[in-house]
Amino acid sequence: MKDKLIIFDTTLRDGEQSPGASMTKEEKVRIARQLERMRVDVIEAGFPAASNGDFESVKAVAGTIRDSTVCGLARALENDIARAGEAIRGANSGRIHTFIATSPIHMEKKLRMSPDQVVEQAVKAVKWARQYTDNVEFSPEDAGRSETDFLCRILEAVIDAGATTLNIPDTVGYNLPHVFGDLIRTLRERIPNSGKAIFSVHCHNDLGLAVANSLSAVLNGARQVECTINGLGERAGNASLEEIVMAVRTRQDIFPCDTTLDTTQIVSASRLVASVTGFVVQPNKAIVGANAFAHESGIHQDGVLKHRETYEIMRAEDVGWTANKMVLGKHSGRNAFRSRLQELGIVLDSEEALNAAFVRFKDLADKKHEIFDEDLHALVSDESSVLEHEHFKLVSLKVCSETGEIPHATVVVSENGVERQAEADGGGPVDAAFKAIEAIAGSGAELQLYSVNNITSGTDAQGEVTVRLAKGGRIVNGQGADTDIVIASAKSYLHALNKLHSKLERAHPQV
Ligand code: KIV
Ligand code: ZN
Repeated sequence: MKDKLIIFDTTLRDGEQSPGASMTKEEKVRIARQLERMRVDVIEAGFPAASNGDFESVKAVAGTIRDSTVCGLARALENDIARAGEAIRGANSGRIHTFIATSPIHMEKKLRMSPDQVVEQAVKAVKWARQYTDNVEFSPEDAGRSETDFLCRILEAVIDAGATTLNIPDTVGYNLPHVFGDLIRTLRERIPNSGKAIFSVHCHNDLGLAVANSLSAVLNGARQVECTINGLGERAGNASLEEIVMAVRTRQDIFPCDTTLDTTQIVSASRLVASVTGFVVQPNKAIVGANAFAHESGIHQDGVLKHRETYEIMRAEDVGWTANKMVLGKHSGRNAFRSRLQELGIVLDSEEALNAAFVRFKDLADKKHEIFDEDLHALVSDESSVLEHEHFKLVSLKVCSETGEIPHATVVVSENGVERQAEADGGGPVDAAFKAIEAIAGSGAELQLYSVNNITSGTDAQGEVTVRLAKGGRIVNGQGADTDIVIASAKSYLHALNKLHSKLERAHPQV
């Protein structure tokens, strides 16, 4: 019997800490449902003390998810822990993850605490957390740059205080695989009560080594890995879930453990996270990149056709790559639409949301003959973004673009229910549309990113547009999808403005 490797997904917490990746409560619940479908063991849903919005999101995820453990992050402070405890109260299985920094530089410069004080605070934090749940995880932040003797001391103390998982973070992505693996082995061997807790790792990707470091830790006894879909996360990101899971699954000749994940859900999870956050996946990204299983060269194609394993170490279908399926068309009825959404695991919260999505589906079917699963995902994602924040709503858009002429846009936007019209010229049709919207909204936000992706192939495919806006230190992403990319662009710009308008302020756990 092999050991179980616990998969702890932190897309909704550490992933969300990437500038511009912040998610609404509805978006978090949607992603959490997909993680549950994939049979992720632990979902870190957020940092409840960061803001009321984060608290509500963790509470909503805890109240929705039944099969995965739902975790809330808390600094080693009584109030943070109480918020996390309250947020996970409705969970079938809840966990509190508390942390405090242990590297000399963090203790001295950031916390301004002595090592003795840090140990004392960590022990108190774990005891506070145990008042809410038996499932308590402790992380010595910046463990990758902490002294091994001090780590042994603090970890022994928190196990005695009741921590059941010890997570060793390489917070700044500084480690190399053999060094990090040795650290995990040394901690397990030297801490006298180490057998009472599960060792976990949490690696950042600043040197591109997050996955390698995590796998080396697993080979040295770690039995939980913290990771994110698509490797989303602060700076260069966290270890990527799909790479870890597939490395362990593919190399069962090497690993003494395996996950219980349903890997066929990986591609759907990747697409969902990319579309919600606007962080698109590079085509050559392992496992989930569009080219990950594409064989371009003649020699490879020939080999794969003769015997697939000549060039393929995994099967595309095992991670959820399937040929695009035409699922619905212009004549499909409401019940067929509803049941296809159910098959895709898309749950709309109300009849109103279903009706609105169905109207948009009919509109889309008029413009596009074949509707694929990807179209439905985009359509629903577009719909829920509209329903969530309705301060600005696109009513109509007219754009004139002609060779030799300056592009001109006329837009009508409903602002809080009141229709307003504006016109503008621009360098191109999208630029003109954005300027016209700005003439109404007057946000003064800086456009940091504009990207267009086609959801399926063909010239009638829907374009999915992401814009990133920055204002007053806040960064938000907006998405919009339509068969007309100028309309998709306008929708995405309004979606981002709505997020800015909602003024959700949140603290960062590590600052
Ligand atoms: O990177 C880190 O140290 C963290 C901790 C909160 C676990 O995200
Ligand atoms: Zn982290």
